[in-house]
Amino acid sequence: MEEPFQNQEVITEEEYIAYAKLCKRGLRIVNAHIKNFCDTDDNYGNDIITYRIKSYKSAMEKCERKNYPPTLDGIKKQMQDVAGLRAIMTSIDDIYRVRNNIYAQPGLEVIEEHDYIKNPKENGYSSLHLIVIIQVYYDNMTKSVPVEIQLRTYSMQGWAAAEHKLIYKSSNPSDEAKAKLKHSAAHSRDFDNEVVEMFEEQKNSSEN
Ligand code: GTP
Ligand code: MG
Repeated sequence: MEEPFQNQEVITEEEYIAYAKLCKRGLRIVNAHIKNFCDTDDNYGNDIITYRIKSYKSAMEKCERKNYPPTLDGIKKQMQDVAGLRAIMTSIDDIYRVRNNIYAQPGLEVIEEHDYIKNPKENGYSSLHLIVIIQVYYDNMTKSVPVEIQLRTYSMQGWAAAEHKLIYKSSNPSDEAKAKLKHSAAHSRDFDNEVVEMFEEQKNSSEN
């Protein structure tokens, strides 16, 4: 018997949008969970949560860049950031608290973790990334979709935004800018560690 051909064809924009809509349903649920995890009694609404659905154009560019088959099957199997969420928090401790809650939350299955806080990238990039799978019920069907979650402090966000503009978006990034960014990443890490220390000191002094 011949293999079904349908899903092997280059995905059309319409097909991609239908799949992306499903991912968006998953993203909404993940967003509600993350919002709950971020909002503690003494930290209500301080964190910034943003999210986006990858456009068809970006998905096609990524298939090209990463050599993924630009088919519906290829995207479903290999592209785990069609839905992406970013939470920006005050301290590294908040990041790990939210991370642990994500692992413990029934219905969210973590399938991948990159801890660029403990192991920053060579260029200095730091954040904690998780890919979770969530079941979405829609139109009498249950489907699993992936959502990429990036957890960052404000200073990690500042660094990543600058690096994105200075290096990624630049046609001709200078070695000097790269070296300076690496240096700034170290400052940013120092600051984040000091923030953790300051919160610990505050907690200890309020307990005494
Ligand atoms: P992608 O193909 O981008 O998904 O890379 P990957 O699958 O190797 O995953 P990784 O976890 O390294 O990166 C995923 C996302 O993290 C990117 O799409 C960016 O949003 C962010 N990111 C990763 N590395 C960098 C970096 O060096 N600089 C900046 N500004 N952002 C980064
Ligand atoms: Mg990725």
